Amino acid sequence: MTLRVGVLGCGVVGGGLIELLSQRGEQLGLSLQRVAVRDQTRPRREVPHGVPIGTVEEVIRDDAIDVVVELIGGLDHAYAAIRQALERKKAVVTANKAVVSAHGDELRALAAHVQVGFRYEASVAGCLPIVEILENDLIFDRVDRLIGILNGTCNFILSRCSQGSLQYAEALREAQLNGFAEADPTLDVSGADTAQKLAILVTLLSGGSCAPERVSTTGIDSIAKEDHLAAEELGYVIKLLALYRRGDRHQVRVAPTLVPKSSAVGLTVEEYNAVEVECSHIGWQLYLGKGAGRMPTASAVLHDLVRIREGAARVSRSNAPLTLASPGSWTAPWLLRIPREISVASLGARLAGTGVDVSELRRSKHDSVGTLILTQEASADAIAKAQDALTVDNPASSRPVAFAVEPEA
Ligand SMILES: NC(=O)c1ccc[n+]([C@@H]2O[C@H](COP(=O)([O-])OP(=O)(O)OC[C@H]3O[C@@H](n4cnc5c(N)ncnc54)[C@H](OP(=O)(O)O)[C@@H]3O)[C@@H](O)[C@H]2O)c1
Repeated sequence: MTLRVGVLGCGVVGGGLIELLSQRGEQLGLSLQRVAVRDQTRPRREVPHGVPIGTVEEVIRDDAIDVVVELIGGLDHAYAAIRQALERKKAVVTANKAVVSAHGDELRALAAHVQVGFRYEASVAGCLPIVEILENDLIFDRVDRLIGILNGTCNFILSRCSQGSLQYAEALREAQLNGFAEADPTLDVSGADTAQKLAILVTLLSGGSCAPERVSTTGIDSIAKEDHLAAEELGYVIKLLALYRRGDRHQVRVAPTLVPKSSAVGLTVEEYNAVEVECSHIGWQLYLGKGAGRMPTASAVLHDLVRIREGAARVSRSNAPLTLASPGSWTAPWLLRIPREISVASLGARLAGTGVDVSELRRSKHDSVGTLILTQEASADAIAKAQDALTVDNPASSRPVAFAVEPEA
């Protein structure tokens, strides 16, 4: 049986998918029927001669299409298109993390109700098969912990800033010149994109639902060169990590975090993504690869199309909202970087009653970096108290900086 495919969007990913379908579609039992774009006057060299190019509505209404691939991006229009396609009993594949993280529960339920496939492997970590793994392959084990680098833009910027080699603004400009960052990078550098992807993964691995707004999120745009120098001096690098820990209350967090330089995530550089999962029976697994880009993302979409053609079943799950722990209860050892003006002799008195104990203390070899404190395991709430207690009274800018340290898996 050949699966008849309609593609919404012929941009970076849509164009790549259409190329792949032209090369390998026949062999894989996939045939491109119709393509939708916004500007129908522009020539589309990827689209084979004879394949009509029109509107989203034309693709959705075409009875000769079995599966609609949504690659237009954005939220409302894409969501409406996916809903309409499912209502017309067409299977859907999408790479749209915004739609899946905001409406995934409802769309999964609708797809199950009308008994068609709804797949979104490319919405998280590009070509890494992490959605499939969490949704089906690991269903027989329990994921207790997850650590992910899920945003290639941030990882590229942080890689360029590591060891204090570039300032944030310079690294962002380089990412933009290389096509790894948008002209408006806010969604990426604020951590919001990573939070959307983590919310999708947590919903899959926990069986409950987690909206992206509930993920405690900090971005990378205020990390200073001195923070990278401090991390380097202690044998760490700073990564924007997506983190999940199972507990009575599940913990979800996106934050710049120190990881050992030689750990798997520490060694994941440039635009690469990595996901490590710790399961109760099989232990740790690591997935690493390109998280974005034309062909890595289009390949993940192609994978979903093949799975739909095979009639692959999905494991059904409940979608009650997940009970989450408060952000302040996150515990870790921390790096505190404090101004040199604070005397080491006064530290004991200042930290008394905060719940934070020092495990290592050293003056940085760089004057501008200040004094470095590695703490024992402490909660984020306790660290906030310690930051208050260590703030020198005058300039607000001298509030100590704190980063959680994530031990090696
Ligand atoms: N790029 C990546 O590396 C990557 C990685 C992972 C996931 N994704 C996701 O993949 C999706 C597509 O991203 P992209 O980078 O391929 O975007 P893109 O290059 O901007 O392409 C979007 C395509 O959709 C078409 N389009 C937009 N609005 C439309 C409308 N209302 N009706 C019909 N067509 C419309 C555009 O038409 P015109 O060509 O006429 O403008 C264009 O062909 C997004 O959800 C994105 O988050 C992308």
